[in-house]
Amino acid sequence: MKSLLKTLTETYGPSGHEDAVRKIIQKEVKPFADEMRVDAMGSLIVRKKPTVDVEYSKRIMLAAHMDEIGVIASHIDKNGFVRFASNGGVFGRYTLGARIRFMNGVTGVVGFDKFENMDQAPALSKMYIDVGATSRSDCPVKVGDFGAFERSYMEMGNRLVAKSMDDRSGVVVLIETLKAIKSTPHDLFFVFTTQEEVGVRGAGTAAYRIDPEIGLAVDVTATGDTPASSKVNMDLGKGPCVKVRDPGMLSDPRVVEWMVNTAEKAKIPYQREVLLMGSTDARAIQLTRSGVMAGALSIPCRYVHSASEMVDLDDLKNSVKLLTAMLSKPVKFN
Ligand code: CO
Ligand code: ZN
Repeated sequence: MKSLLKTLTETYGPSGHEDAVRKIIQKEVKPFADEMRVDAMGSLIVRKKPTVDVEYSKRIMLAAHMDEIGVIASHIDKNGFVRFASNGGVFGRYTLGARIRFMNGVTGVVGFDKFENMDQAPALSKMYIDVGATSRSDCPVKVGDFGAFERSYMEMGNRLVAKSMDDRSGVVVLIETLKAIKSTPHDLFFVFTTQEEVGVRGAGTAAYRIDPEIGLAVDVTATGDTPASSKVNMDLGKGPCVKVRDPGMLSDPRVVEWMVNTAEKAKIPYQREVLLMGSTDARAIQLTRSGVMAGALSIPCRYVHSASEMVDLDDLKNSVKLLTAMLSKPVKFN
C-alpha cells in the first residue's frame, strides 16, 4: 500500500490532466475488474459485478478523485517570469517557496513581489514562477500550461507525507478495497474521477452514466488536532471519518447509519465528521439526475492543499476495512 501511495503521489496530475495517474490505476486494478472504461471527461470506471445473488443488492458508486490542485500559466513577462492562476484550491500561504512542475517536465520556483505586510501571505497575483528563463522567447512555459506542486513522498513512522494525498490516499483506499472484496451481492462501480478540485465535475457526469442507488466518495478531511486549529472533531490516526455534513452536502442519514453500524459491528475505529470548509465528489453524485442517496468516508489529513499533506497509515488500513465490510454484505434501508 505504501509503495503504491508513493508512486501515485509523485505522479503529475492537476485537474484536467489526470492521464498519468489513470494509467497507473488501470494497471493496478485490471486483474480485479469485470469491466473498465474511460468516459469523455477522463474518469476511469471500474465495475465489479455481484458474485452472489441476494435480495437487497444495490448499484453502488464509489468515487475517489485522481486530480490534484495546481496552477495555470496566465502571463509571461519580458524577462521570462511566469504569472499564474489557481487551478483548484491553491492558496498563497502554501505556495511561497514551492516548486512547480509543468506538464512538459519544466520545473520552477515560486517567487513573489515585494511584501507590503511581512506577516501576511501575499495573494497568488503577487507571485510568479521563475523557470530559469531570461526572456519571453526563451521561456519554456507558455500561457495555458498547467503546473502542479513538485515534492517527494516521505514517511515519518506511521505518518505519511506527500503532495496530493488529497486525493491519491483515497485512490489507494479504493484500489485496496477492490482487491480486498472476496464476494459481494452488489453491483459495484469504483470510479476514479477527474476535475474534483475545480468543482466536482467528473463525478457528476460519471454518476449520470452509472445511475447509482447509493454514492460514496472517499476523500480527505481537515483535522482539528494541530496547534490553534479550528475546532473540528477529526483527529489524525483515530480512524476513518463518517461524513455527516460539509458545506456542499448533507449526507443521507441512512448512509451515515450504515457506515456507523458496520464500523461498530466490525470493531473498526471511526470518527463522526462535520466539516466546516470544502466538499467532495459525493455532492455531485447526490445531485445527479433525480437525486442519489449519498455519503462519504473521509481520511483525516493535516495541511490539506499544501505540498506536504499528512495522513496516517492506520487510518488508510481502517478505511479499507470499513469499506470492505460495508460492501461485502447486503444492505437494507427503511
Ligand atoms: Co482537495
Ligand atoms: Zn479531495
